[in-house]
Amino acid sequence: MSTWDDGSREIDVDEGPTSGRIVDAGSSDEERRVEAALRPRRLADFPGQGRVRDQLGLVLEAARRRAAPPDHVLLSGPPGLGKTTLAMIIAGELEQPIRITSGPAIQHAGDLAAVLSSLVEGEVLFLDEIHRMSRPAEEMLYLAMEDFRVDVIVGKGPGATAIPLELPPFTVVGATTRAGLLPAPLRDRFGFTGHLDYYDTADLVTILTRNAELLGIEADAPGIEQIASRSRGTPRIANRLLRRVRDWAQVHGHGRVDDEAARAALELFDVDAIGLDRLDRAVLEALCTRFGGGPVGLSTLAVAVGEEPDTVETVAEPYLVREGFLIRTPRGRAASPRAWEHLGLTPPRDAVAVAGASGGRLGPEAEQASLPLDEPSA
Ligand SMILES: Nc1ncnc2c1ncn2[C@@H]1O[C@H](COP(=O)(O)OP(=O)(O)OP(=O)(O)O)[C@@H](O)[C@H]1O
Ligand SMILES: [Mg+2]
Repeated sequence: MSTWDDGSREIDVDEGPTSGRIVDAGSSDEERRVEAALRPRRLADFPGQGRVRDQLGLVLEAARRRAAPPDHVLLSGPPGLGKTTLAMIIAGELEQPIRITSGPAIQHAGDLAAVLSSLVEGEVLFLDEIHRMSRPAEEMLYLAMEDFRVDVIVGKGPGATAIPLELPPFTVVGATTRAGLLPAPLRDRFGFTGHLDYYDTADLVTILTRNAELLGIEADAPGIEQIASRSRGTPRIANRLLRRVRDWAQVHGHGRVDDEAARAALELFDVDAIGLDRLDRAVLEALCTRFGGGPVGLSTLAVAVGEEPDTVETVAEPYLVREGFLIRTPRGRAASPRAWEHLGLTPPRDAVAVAGASGGRLGPEAEQASLPLDEPSA
């Protein structure tokens, strides 16, 4: 949102993802504001992630009984699955205030020192994108997490002295989409790590049903089911699709999110029955119809769909690989039998041989052969 000289404001068109892709699991600032209203506030209202929920529930309950802050908690997993939501829930369940900041906001150790030294006892410090913190800040955080102490540096050069500052006990909740990038010493200081995974359709149905109610959207079960099954296992995408189907229902339908509205709206927005969008399908189509199923090099494939190799690799590929539509081989990208099937095409016999009979997942041999990739990634 930008403000013009005359005081008028330009409001972002809608709460969409920054990439413009409706099935992008990331979000813009505007969308985050919309999301905030939909966050469940209690662990009991948080559907899915059963294992993490039970483990976290135990950790929090035990802390409550001891009347002491729980261990530091690290939440990892792909975008849009509920890390920020769970961080808020942790503070809610502990009935403690929460301080929110993020790795990119903490570039200097001093930034972190300022936050740490103002924490009150028991407070929850939420560090989003914790893998993007600077190294000096990270080192300060080690000490703070372990000993509840920071060394404040006073002065500069040879005369500088470190003054230790005691901190009240508090709880760090870190969130990261890239747990692998966290240095081991930092990871080790979290007493509990919860890894969030993609949701199944039934959980997304529960989430969507609740959100439709919160948003005052009339929705029936087939409509909700349709949206849930196209949401790539991601609540953020589900919420976004729900809003678009609601739009369609208000303009073209009877105002109700039903099967017809869901199908029509999602066709309009190019989201197919399993959540692939136009780019995903273009990649698979090029692979199957122009390159006989591959293998073909990433840059050739990118040219065929009119995109940058980087876009194909980072935007389309992860979901296609995860769902077993696309296989990375040493000689390039190849279509799995599932891809041919999804496009309604018959694979040539040698294409099946590339993928093996394992529904597109790599067999041990292919797995071994799958590195290095045809082209190094940027
Ligand atoms: N289990 C859930 N139940 C209900 N809503 C959920 C659940 N998980 C996520 N959501 C909703 O999905 C949206 C995105 O969730 P959230 O912001 O917590 O994801 P995130 O993992 O922090 O994503 P990012 O990595 O982009 O920060 C929010 O609107 C949130 O309410
Ligand atoms: Mg988040």
